[in-house]
Amino acid sequence: MGDFPDDFLWGVSSSAYQIEGATQVGGRGESIWDRFVTRPGAVVDGSTGAVATGHYERYREDVGLMRELGARVYRFSVSWPRWLPSGRGRPAPAGVDFYERLVDSLLAAGIEPWICLYHWDLPQALQDRGGWTSRDCADYFADYAAAVAGRLGDRVRTFLMLNEPNVHALLGHLTGQHAPGVSDLSAYLAAIHHQNLAVGKGIARLRALDAGFRLGSVVSLQPVLPAAEPGTEPREEDVAAASLADAAYNRASLDPLLLGRYPAAMAGFFEALLRAGDEETMRQRVDLLGVNHYTLQRVRLGRGPLGLELVPPGAGTEATQMGWRVAPEALTRTLLELKSAYGNPPVVITENGAAYEDPPVRNGTVDDASRVAYFARYIRGVAAALEAGCDVRGYLAWTLVDNFEWGDGFTRRFGCVALDRETLERTPKASFHYLRRVFGSGALG
Ligand code: FCB
Repeated sequence: MGDFPDDFLWGVSSSAYQIEGATQVGGRGESIWDRFVTRPGAVVDGSTGAVATGHYERYREDVGLMRELGARVYRFSVSWPRWLPSGRGRPAPAGVDFYERLVDSLLAAGIEPWICLYHWDLPQALQDRGGWTSRDCADYFADYAAAVAGRLGDRVRTFLMLNEPNVHALLGHLTGQHAPGVSDLSAYLAAIHHQNLAVGKGIARLRALDAGFRLGSVVSLQPVLPAAEPGTEPREEDVAAASLADAAYNRASLDPLLLGRYPAAMAGFFEALLRAGDEETMRQRVDLLGVNHYTLQRVRLGRGPLGLELVPPGAGTEATQMGWRVAPEALTRTLLELKSAYGNPPVVITENGAAYEDPPVRNGTVDDASRVAYFARYIRGVAAALEAGCDVRGYLAWTLVDNFEWGDGFTRRFGCVALDRETLERTPKASFHYLRRVFGSGALG
């Protein structure tokens, strides 16, 4: 075990707002994240994505790093307001030009560009019209998707629709921890449903544009288990809480796409939003399902949203700096479930990685041994799923360069390359060299 097929798709993932910076350049429109970060307390260290990693200017250097890493694939997102400043209508030539240059330099480096069309940075102009709480947003998205694919589709063959609609709905519209900073149950439900429609409409539009595109979307999946003291059975109400949380987190966007219906535990919530034909719209054949995976959750009945409470890992439970449990077997389990309950769709792990408190740069590198160990164990978890017959086609690490981690600002680092925030200098960490060996050999060693 530990060996991967020769055509396994190794690479890295990123997202526009977290890396690009240059938020005021080239006629780019305002996004909901530009607005949200100005709220006092929204970002723990008061930072923003205005500079981020400076990728907009330094993309060539980043492509060079990816080539050195041996990445075959780079999944990045297009910033909707950089392409269409007000969300609809005319594209901004400078924005289009940036993505053309990025794509061309990836191709020249032998790296396949995979575009994720939306990673949480909605144009503020569309938020002003209700954002994802408005059904129209799904059509605006499909138009925007067709505009990007129409322009770049001669060079980019893989398009993923939305990044983690479940998380965007939950943190952006129910807990208010992310942009647009709304805390409202009906906004949350509408954001789920309208994003599901957007995924379906986007895939259908792009499929009609070019039947040869490889199309899919990206979901965040993690096992959700009931709280339980070691050695005891969980309480019945916590088992019910876990199954509701599982439906809300994992299945509310996965099931409509793959099965054409909402999970039974949540179906009642969506009745008022569903219109005739929606289920057919949301259900699409996917050429590739992107799965982002980091951890597993334990929940119990409680006072949080939906009557649920997350149980933090107890002392003695291994966790990353995010407070996320380290449990590589949970990734294997997630992939096995896609095989047994969802017909074994073609999957790529589109994000997996860890934040740890890194030591400083020393002798030209960063000895991030904890991240190396995390990657090694999780990639082994992928190998176990492959061996068990799961249709896993690739693994993309999150992420290349330390970046703006949403509400955590720059206090959490996920990169295999360190960023000096003053000079924007990049320094490959030990995990970069580790991934390079794995990507190059297809073996864990
Ligand atoms: C995922 C997001 C990604 C990044 C990682 C750590 O949920 O898709 O942007 O923040 O978590």
